[in-house]
Amino acid sequence: MTRVFVTRELPGGSGEGSPLARLRDALGAENVDVWPEFDPPSPEALLTRTDGCDGLLTMINDRIDGAFLDARPSLRSVAQLAVGYDNIDVPACTQRGVVVSNTPDVLSDATADMAWALLMAAARKLPAGRDAIENGEWGQWNPTWLLSSEITGRTLGILGPGSIGKAAARRASGFNMTVLYTGRSEKRDFPGTFVPLDELLERSDFISVHVPLTEETRGMCDASFFARMQPHAIFINTSRGPVVDQSALIEALKDGTIAGAGLDVMTPEPISPDDPLVHAPNIVLSPHVGSGTLETRTKMAHLAVDGLLAGIRGERASNCLNPDALNAATRS
Ligand code: DGY
Repeated sequence: MTRVFVTRELPGGSGEGSPLARLRDALGAENVDVWPEFDPPSPEALLTRTDGCDGLLTMINDRIDGAFLDARPSLRSVAQLAVGYDNIDVPACTQRGVVVSNTPDVLSDATADMAWALLMAAARKLPAGRDAIENGEWGQWNPTWLLSSEITGRTLGILGPGSIGKAAARRASGFNMTVLYTGRSEKRDFPGTFVPLDELLERSDFISVHVPLTEETRGMCDASFFARMQPHAIFINTSRGPVVDQSALIEALKDGTIAGAGLDVMTPEPISPDDPLVHAPNIVLSPHVGSGTLETRTKMAHLAVDGLLAGIRGERASNCLNPDALNAATRS
């Protein structure tokens, strides 16, 4: 008997052909335990519910580390419903023969759309306009009121030329923009020009961050990063909050080092309504919903189910992050 625990209800419902139905069909409904609450299971509940499980389908806010894996030696497959997996200690999984998968590519367009939604909202000061209407501050039409930044023809800098960065860059062609990008190495088919980080910061009117959260990228957008941007430039982040030194960003917005920001991710999540970030000038915020369209989240759930089942069967899925785990000693 193969048992799995799914740490949240899956998008796509439970009807025929849905991700959940596929999982139930594959393993038997009685072997698929789904956490029914909106909030994640506590670490204790995660431990209890995974007792004897072979597979675990996780979200970005479930922590999977060596101690957890040691306490759950029956686990063989962990499938993350996200492209980012900084909540999972992958080397610890590999060491213990636990296969890990994620959901790349299927969310690139939706997340790039969100980066652009934030970019456009920040550039065109949509929140300020909305506030003016709500606060009764909208007077007669005036040619000098609420002037914002042109987008067409300007320069977009992409930090992190992976699948999402590429999708964000592709969208710039409709705005006749120059695209610069930086990352570990030049990409042959990236629609833009590879430049060093300094040049990207100095030349871009908009900077959009698409890097994974690693020890290398943690806090990389700090005071010196913002100081190298142009004062009219706008900073966008749809990757992970801790990539940004948030106090430095707030200062940069307050003192006019940069002109605005659009963030889908922040620290912590959820952020308190009283947090200084929420009240920083010229900032547009969305609550980590970059991939959050019904279509994309359903595709992510299907891909997570594929990865989960493949891992349990000892097969190498295309979205497997640690194929070496398949060669590691079989778990008890
Ligand atoms: C991801 O996939 O990593 C997102 O942040 C969650 O949609």
